[in-house]
Amino acid sequence: MNKLILVTGGTGYIGSHTVVELMNEGFDVVIIDNLSNSEKSVLDGIAEITGRRPYFEQFDICDKEKLDNFFRVYKKLDAIIHFAAFKAVGESIEKPLSYYQNNLVSLMNLLKGMNDYNVPYIVFSSSCTVYGEPDELPVTEQAPIKVANSPYGNTKQISEEIIKDTVDVNHNLKAIALRYFNPIGAHNSALIGELPVGVPDNLVPFITQTAIGIRDELKVFGNDYNTPDGSAIRDYINVVDLAKAHVVSVKRMLEDKCKSNVEFFNLGTGKGSSVLEIINAFEKATGEKLTYKIVDRRVGDVESVYADTKFANEELGWKAETGLEETLLSAWSWEKYIRNK
Ligand code: UD1
Repeated sequence: MNKLILVTGGTGYIGSHTVVELMNEGFDVVIIDNLSNSEKSVLDGIAEITGRRPYFEQFDICDKEKLDNFFRVYKKLDAIIHFAAFKAVGESIEKPLSYYQNNLVSLMNLLKGMNDYNVPYIVFSSSCTVYGEPDELPVTEQAPIKVANSPYGNTKQISEEIIKDTVDVNHNLKAIALRYFNPIGAHNSALIGELPVGVPDNLVPFITQTAIGIRDELKVFGNDYNTPDGSAIRDYINVVDLAKAHVVSVKRMLEDKCKSNVEFFNLGTGKGSSVLEIINAFEKATGEKLTYKIVDRRVGDVESVYADTKFANEELGWKAETGLEETLLSAWSWEKYIRNK
């Protein structure tokens, strides 16, 4: 019988790509998503790519009663991958309580459920935001956790601590926290991708929306950073590569290969790219010309952050493989697909 994996937030951007990779590897998947930031039609994209439809339950995992009921119905879950969370840095500064409430209560409900209904493994969707402005680059998993620059970032730090404290005393549970750098791009089929609601916060969806004419121009937030071209540097990682790391993590737990009850891995490419380099790479990959202007820095942005990938490469046995231009082209194909649908 296939192993059954619960994916919370499975109709979201990273969640949907992970569901596809899990199903491609022969896992059965049940998604819980409240569709607060995604659409049910994502399930059609997943089904078209994989030839199978994941189970889908629409509710909010902050609702403990509904979650308990879910655990009672889906008796035998082999592992959980927990994506469901709010993720907009700016919004979290405006609405801190809603971020703490949503991101922390959902995690605590899941951990309690795992304990009560004997689900041993969880992969947690964390972020490089826990490192803040790092002292040394590239950033290793040993780098100090810095004071968070937003309530969103704080929920990731606190979530990691909640997981650590929980698995420390409950030896039936194991966790892997994956610290993502900047996931971009879309599935090669262009049947699933990132679907931001309203004006995108993130760079690449803003670029593709500008190129297709929904936005007038891209604003480059700052060209006075201490970087070679003055714009800020990030580690942009292909979302399908990122999704595959979740499958590797689930298998690692199922095969009992974890070295401790909780493990942390950086998921990045190891290469930093500046905003201006991303613009150039996008233009080169797609042949489109982007209208952009330089504006002030965005409050809360760090200057430079990119991953030391050695630990993930060697210990997890996973590596980001897709090149930047190919990834940007996939984001562009997706943008064209959704606008012409
Ligand atoms: C941040 C968080 C990340 C979080 C993500 C969620 C850090 C280091 N990273 O990513 O953990 O998961 O938000 O949304 O805190 N930019 C522009 N113009 C734009 C948009 C962005 O110039 O219109 C620039 C930004 O200033 C930044 C880069 O592009 O230098 C990437 O920005 P973005 O895609 O928003 O991601 P982060 O802020 O790095």
